Amino acid sequence: MPRPPADLTRLGAADKPFPAVHVMSYIDGYFRQDDPGQVMPEFSGIFTGPTLHVDTGDGMLTPTPQPLVALSEYLETLQEG
Ligand code: HEM
Repeated sequence: MPRPPADLTRLGAADKPFPAVHVMSYIDGYFRQDDPGQVMPEFSGIFTGPTLHVDTGDGMLTPTPQPLVALSEYLETLQEG
């Protein structure tokens, strides 16, 4: 691959909160659409069903597919940093 895949056990910095919004955005893929060097597929199409309102840090509650939130929470449990 032109870019190495991320180490999913070391997302973000050890001394900072888990970057859940970044992780969910990355997996969803929306903000990567204009990057021609992208390797990782966009997974936005596979997340269906109920949504949860997630605080995206700007005071806005964004409707976010529940499976995407669950995946982010799972990745958070894997952190070793
Ligand atoms: C359940 C499946 C996957 C999950 C949860 C996942 C998650 C992530 C996350 C959260 C990042 C961003 C890390 C960061 O910003 O530090 C990332 C980066 C990356 N992923 Fe995935 N990924 C998955 C599948 C894949 C697949 C199938 C590929 C390739 C075929 C892939 C290739 C990459 C690459 C190359 C990067 C680094 C991109 C860059 O540095 O610009 N990922 N992944």
